[in-house]
Amino acid sequence: MLMAMLFKNIKALVNTREFSQMLKGKYLAELPTIFDAYLFIENDVIIDFGSMQNLPAGMNKIPEKEIINVQGRYVLPTWCDSHTHIVYDGSREDEFIDKIKGLNYAEIAARGGGILNSARNLQNASEDALFSQAWQRLDEVSKLGTGAIEIKSGYGLTVESELKMLRVIKKLKEKSGLIIKSTFLGAHTYPAEFKENHQGYIDMIIHEMLPVIARERLADYIDVFCETGFFSPEETETICRAGMQFGLKPKIHANQLSLSKGVETGVKLGAVSVDHLETMNDEAINALKHSKTIGTLLPSAAFFLRMPYQPARQLIDAGCAISLASDFNPGSSPGGNMNFVISLACIQMKMFPEEAINAATLNGAFAMEVNEKAGSVTKGKKANFIITKPIPSLAYLPYSFGSNNVEKVMINGQFIS
Ligand code: NIG
Ligand code: FE
Repeated sequence: MLMAMLFKNIKALVNTREFSQMLKGKYLAELPTIFDAYLFIENDVIIDFGSMQNLPAGMNKIPEKEIINVQGRYVLPTWCDSHTHIVYDGSREDEFIDKIKGLNYAEIAARGGGILNSARNLQNASEDALFSQAWQRLDEVSKLGTGAIEIKSGYGLTVESELKMLRVIKKLKEKSGLIIKSTFLGAHTYPAEFKENHQGYIDMIIHEMLPVIARERLADYIDVFCETGFFSPEETETICRAGMQFGLKPKIHANQLSLSKGVETGVKLGAVSVDHLETMNDEAINALKHSKTIGTLLPSAAFFLRMPYQPARQLIDAGCAISLASDFNPGSSPGGNMNFVISLACIQMKMFPEEAINAATLNGAFAMEVNEKAGSVTKGKKANFIITKPIPSLAYLPYSFGSNNVEKVMINGQFIS
């Protein structure tokens, strides 16, 4: 049966576009908005929208029960969070305390904490336990407005456990109404037993993990943590090229803790995105601006690790395409609230609210290649929306950080909260 719904008297309908294009440089600041708008959907698809003044006469005949009056509220496309690690077991607040005492991320990792700590937990957790924890996280972020999300493996670090993680992601894809992309991050760190035998672990990734992942279609992308003390640019390239042979495009962790050449490596490989970018220089910015690769900024990771924020202004002014994501993970961003991410982007990185919203919706959709379905209010895209509480302006969203301004979320034409 065809289900129709008309939203009337929308204070402002945000990010309305006829076509969607990746937004580079100054175009990020253009956020098309219709004030006093209507929006019409059928089932899970956007059919029509426009100004109330131009409400088609036929729509006056729509039965009352199919009309929602959203006076005073903003309607936005749901957030597209293109970088998360939400499949993990337990939490790491012990390391959080160590950081308060003065240890940094690299020091904690060097003594067997960090990723290896989560890997130990994950290896001992059942697929069901992992699924239910990840499901809860997904439920939480969806109620905060996330409608599309990318999820990585990388806490398994053995053939069995990496596959276990990816199977959990596959099950999340099957059971959730959210749009989900899956990324294989076997190269997150070297397991202790391969600390002195990098080639051994790389061989395991290439010859034991990738063939099964490809056969069972467990991943859409391949990721590597390209970082001093983790994977070198050469190792990153070898692993990504192997993944590409199996049809996985790269999306890589780059330039988080140091000038790792991760950005240059990602650009060279034609990566969909290079993510983090806390530590940038002119060379890295130049490489990015001349490419089709998106720079995904993760300000909540910089916030949590007390690191310098990503140079968003410099990247935008240079003409790069950037997106914003949460990096939701137990070690560097134990929360996935995209509303907080856009606040940090405006407060700490001096992005304008329009830029932050574009970066967290349309460019986020491009950063995980779901731009045909998500990221803007465009005819034919999914009926996935955030309906705000009554708010005075759009800038109020990032401004009122920590407040929950999300009144309702619609996914696939259905209210989930
Ligand atoms: O994106 N940087 C590498 N990976 C994660 C952190 C992983 C962890 O500490 O568990 C990140 O920040
Ligand atoms: Fe990450």
